Amino acid sequence: MLESGALSEAVILVGGQGTRLKPLTCYLPKPMLPVLNHPFLEHTITYLKGYGVGDITLALNYLPEAIQGCLGDGSRLGVSLNYAVEASPLGTAGAVKNAERYLDSTFAVLNGDIFTDLDITDMLAFHRRKGAKVTIALTRVDNPSAFGVVETDSDGRVERFTEKPGPERITSNWINAGTYIIEPEVLGYVPENSHYMFERGLFPLLLELNEPVYGYPFSGYWLDMGTPEKYLCLNCDLLLNKVSNHLIPGLGRESISCGEDVIIHPSARVTGPVVIGSRSQIGRRASITGPIVIGADCYLGEDAGIEEAILWDGVSIGAGARLKQCIVGTSCRIAGGEQVVDCVVTQGDSGLPNRGRLRVD
Ligand code: GDD
Ligand code: MG
Repeated sequence: MLESGALSEAVILVGGQGTRLKPLTCYLPKPMLPVLNHPFLEHTITYLKGYGVGDITLALNYLPEAIQGCLGDGSRLGVSLNYAVEASPLGTAGAVKNAERYLDSTFAVLNGDIFTDLDITDMLAFHRRKGAKVTIALTRVDNPSAFGVVETDSDGRVERFTEKPGPERITSNWINAGTYIIEPEVLGYVPENSHYMFERGLFPLLLELNEPVYGYPFSGYWLDMGTPEKYLCLNCDLLLNKVSNHLIPGLGRESISCGEDVIIHPSARVTGPVVIGSRSQIGRRASITGPIVIGADCYLGEDAGIEEAILWDGVSIGAGARLKQCIVGTSCRIAGGEQVVDCVVTQGDSGLPNRGRLRVD
């Protein structure tokens, strides 16, 4: 039976390492990467909370302790969190099946690497109006080859779902945006304890069975932060308020937001938008040109200059060093006078910094 009433339950897919984000994700799962100095998942959770979805299950397999240790029972964020941990990855649909015990009404599923301002209440109204068993949010992209391409009829009913099509099979620019609304009975089609995907398994099966699967197109902000470049882009978009966030409200081109006990030398030049974490110190004549996020306990030496960069916690930039379009991982040190452009800098096992390219193909 299809239900009425508000949405209260959701599953967030918090899977693997995100191969294109290595080595940033060696010690942190992709959905825990800091965005505006908050784990990415906190943004997703507060987004759901904003729509009244307070009963949230995290479906996870990679570094589960790091996530559970940080987010606990969710009370800090005003939600109730459950954890469905997979012994080995069960795939997107298998992971939700593994969380079935927490699901007893119409629920949402979110890919754990998407930032969007999609209106879930409106999507739910669409889902109910159409009498759908599954509704897939759709966004338009220029190049759909890295996504699931979705074809619908004029009523929005999905006719075809093709995951990561080759160039000859791209029939639409509307893609799966990684947010679904699902009726619980659909999980009856998903095998227990087996690797099974929505994209290559359940969706094609439901279409074959002529079950009502609908596509909900929307035109708001949407970003899959699965590469370093996209991750940097997301932080910049939030700083520039191209999309709003619930954790640090009021950001914009001019804004400078500092945590506790930040020390900025009076001769330093700070141009927004900038977020600076607690206890960080900005030295004499240093220059910071936003969009910039500086983590907690960072240090910027004399005459150092950074532009469009994300520094995680405990980063130290030596005197006179210059950074542009960079992501610098926890506790990395950049030596005085160095020039670092278009780079991802992380701490290697030897303690020496590793440098990778910001743009990966
Ligand atoms: N718990 C769990 N277990 N989560 C998983 C597993 C798993 O075995 N496999 C993947 N996930 C999670 C990932 O962590 C991510 O949050 C989400 O499922 C999607 O996986 P990605 O690896 O990021 O897939 P993608 O980006 O290549 O493609 C997916 O997202 C696109 C939108 O960004 C597909 O759903 C596409 O159809 C879609 O267009
Ligand atoms: Mg992805």
